[in-house]
Parts: sequence; C-alpha cells; structure tokens
Amino acid sequence: MAGFRICGGEKIEGTLRVDTAKNAVLPILAASVLPQEDTVLTDCPRLGDVECMRGILRMLGCESCWEGDALRICGGALSQGEMPEELSKRVRSSIFLLGPVLGRLRMATMAYPGGCEIGLRPIDLHLSALKRMGVRISEEGGMLRCDGRDMHAADIHLDYPSVGATENIIMAAALLPGRTTISNAAREPEIEDLQRYINAMGGHVQGAGSPLIVIEGVSRLHGVTYQPMPDRIATGTYLCAAAITGGQIELTNARPRDLTAVLDKLRAMGCVIAEGEQALYLSAPERLQSFDALQTQPHPGFPTDMQSQMLALACVCRGASVIEEKVFENRFAIAGDLCRMGANIRVTGRAALIQGVERLHGAHVAAHDLRGGAALVLAALAASGETLVEDVHLIDRGYERMEEKLTALGAKIARV
Ligand code: UD1
Repeated sequence: MAGFRICGGEKIEGTLRVDTAKNAVLPILAASVLPQEDTVLTDCPRLGDVECMRGILRMLGCESCWEGDALRICGGALSQGEMPEELSKRVRSSIFLLGPVLGRLRMATMAYPGGCEIGLRPIDLHLSALKRMGVRISEEGGMLRCDGRDMHAADIHLDYPSVGATENIIMAAALLPGRTTISNAAREPEIEDLQRYINAMGGHVQGAGSPLIVIEGVSRLHGVTYQPMPDRIATGTYLCAAAITGGQIELTNARPRDLTAVLDKLRAMGCVIAEGEQALYLSAPERLQSFDALQTQPHPGFPTDMQSQMLALACVCRGASVIEEKVFENRFAIAGDLCRMGANIRVTGRAALIQGVERLHGAHVAAHDLRGGAALVLAALAASGETLVEDVHLIDRGYERMEEKLTALGAKIARV
C-alpha cells in the first residue's frame, strides 16, 4: 500500500487550479446511461472512484475511454442491469446507478453498496423513493433485485435531505412519463450540476438547489459534451493547507458561493480571504484562532466532507474548539492518529472537544477514510519532523495526485 512521507513545517504558498468535483462527476457518470448517445466529460479527474464507476459501467455494456483530459462514456450502449457484486460493494456511488439503470431498462440488480468507513450509510431513503415510483424490490443473499416494469411518476417526500437519494430520484424520473416531485430535497451544488447536465441533454428538471425539485420525464435524451463544476471540497482542503501552515494560496477554478460556511469559519480563525468570480485567495495568520463551535449540516450548512480538515486545524489553534458531527456517525476515527501527533482531542459520541496545542509532531499514521486521510496530510504539513501517512489509496479516491499539487505549493511530500 502506498503512503505519503511528509516533512512538516513548510508554508503552503502559490497558485493552484482546482480540479473538477468528484461528487459531481460520480452521479453524472451514472446518469450517462440515460441518453442514447455518448457523453463527453471535459476536464474529468482521474480518481480511484471514477475508475471504479468506469468498471461498473463497462460490466453494464458501457465502454468509456480517455481522450486527453476528457472522458467519453458510451452510455447509449447500456445492455444489462446486473451490477457486479465486487465492484458495487467497493464504491458507495454504485447506488447512483440504480435510478438511471431502472429508468432506461426498467430492471436492475446490485449488491448493497460500499464506500468510506464513515458510518452505517443505509440506503432506505433510496429504496423507499423507488418503491413510491412503483419499483418492486426484493432481496436475495445481499443482492437487491429491482423490477421497474410498473414504474410511474410520483410525489416523493424525503424524511431527510439525502444527497444520493435526491440524485437517484432525479435520474430515475428523467425518462419516466409525467411529473415527479421531490420535497425536502437535498440542496447541495452537485445536485444543481446534475440538473444542468440532464437539461443539457434535453431533459426537464427544475428546482435543484431548492428543497422542491420537479422532474418532467422526457421520452429521449441526447448525447452532450459537458464540463462538471469545480470541486468545492478540494477547494476547502487546499485553503486549509495554507491556513494550517500560516501560508497563502490563490485558487483558480474555484466557486466561493459553494463554500460560504467554510469561508466564514476560516475568517473567524483569522484568515484573510478575498473572493473572485472563479477564484479565491487566502492569507493565514502565523497562528490560527479557535472557532468555538462547528456543527456539520446538509448544504448550505457546514459540509461534513470538510469536518476532518477543520479538526486538523483546530488541533493547532489558539484556544479550544468544539465540533459536532450531525451527518455521519463515524467521522472522528482520525482523532486517535491526531493525538499520536500530539493533539489534545476528547471525543464524546458525535462531539469532539479540541484544545489547541502550539505544535504537532511527526508520527506514523494511517488514513481511515478519504477526508480523514486528507486531514492527516494537513496535520503533517504543520507538524515538526517527519510523518508517514499510510493507506493513501483512500486519499486517491477523491484527490488527484495530491502530493504533486502540494509539492508545487512548497510542501515536502513524497509518495512512498
Ligand atoms: C454524499 C457525498 C458525500 C457527502 C454526503 C453528505 C457523493 C458521491 N457523496 O454522500 O461525500 O459526505 O453526500 O454531504 O456525492 N442516509 C440514510 N438513508 C439513506 C441515505 C442516507 O439514513 O437512504 C443518511 C446517511 O447515513 C447519512 C445522511 O443520510 O447519515 C447523509 O447521507 P447522504 O446525503 O445520502 O450522503 P451520500 O449521498 O451518501
């Protein structure tokens, strides 16, 4: 397994272009089975999770190929709806394929999905929504068999604004005759991006970004060349890299409006941030101030995917901070590793109390999940001495060549 060897203490300084968003690309890859023709995703990131989705799509008959930085997916070739068990267990986003495959073929079979070890991650909201749309679902030996021969448009209320369930319903409804509505829909920017993609293919989806989404099914979608949105979580992570090292960074291809809750917290910690139309600039103080309290919430609240990175920052702040994780239950797994680096963290249930220390020190640690892994890298950048972060394949799932980007910004980091 690969690791990162990091010599801490260098300031992160310079300019970086943010990659395209993993969490926008994954549902769009699933939705690419909806049109009769090819989809070309320009500037598509080469990530572990993207390769996994390509693997699943290939098994369903949809080849894809890189054309430089663009990914061409032959979604029209979808020929079967049985998702391979091994791959669907490995990637959580395989669940996204249920909606679009049912929409196209009116049948789908898959194993319960896998993904990061950050909580139970049930799929009850996805399944109950599909049942409301007339899908008959049975379970055999861990496999879900979905029969969509009687699928129909429906009014669906989500008890919780799940991102994945909202996206799945949109995709299932895009080719279904009639009007489907989703109330209490998730409002994440990636859902707006999915709407933009489907509409660019001739679909009729409205309301993404608000709690009420309306989908008017169309009989056919056509191929398109599409550029998904920039990655707001990568944006936030690299801002944190500059913040934790007392550095300064300019990010291009960044959308400040997607990141308001994170920018507010970084400002409260003493960072100076300037926002451009498609750019962000951050200059950090020598030592960050604690942020008192932070609570993760569905968008536009503070994103759970930025929680671990803020935990790393809180470790070296002046003063104490409290973080409450309200979305996923297992997101404090890295607290033990951070403590091994000299942090002072007390976790009780879904809350962590962090007393900032002057300096962390290098240690031998391991990523447990994607964002937690990124947070360990941040801590290592600020620590004295050398840190070895193991299991960075988890980081590669969502950050393309993170070590090369950080090296260009002045970090001493190598893949080993
Ligand atoms: C997506 C993101 C992930 C992010 C999360 C929350 C992608 C590929 N992943 O994940 O990076 O952390 O949104 O912003 O876009 N839940 C249920 N039942 C369900 C579905 C979800 O109880 O059927 C619960 C989950 O366990 C979790 C909460 O709802 O506690 C949020 O999950 P959800 O919004 O669905 O996240 P994902 O779509 O899995």
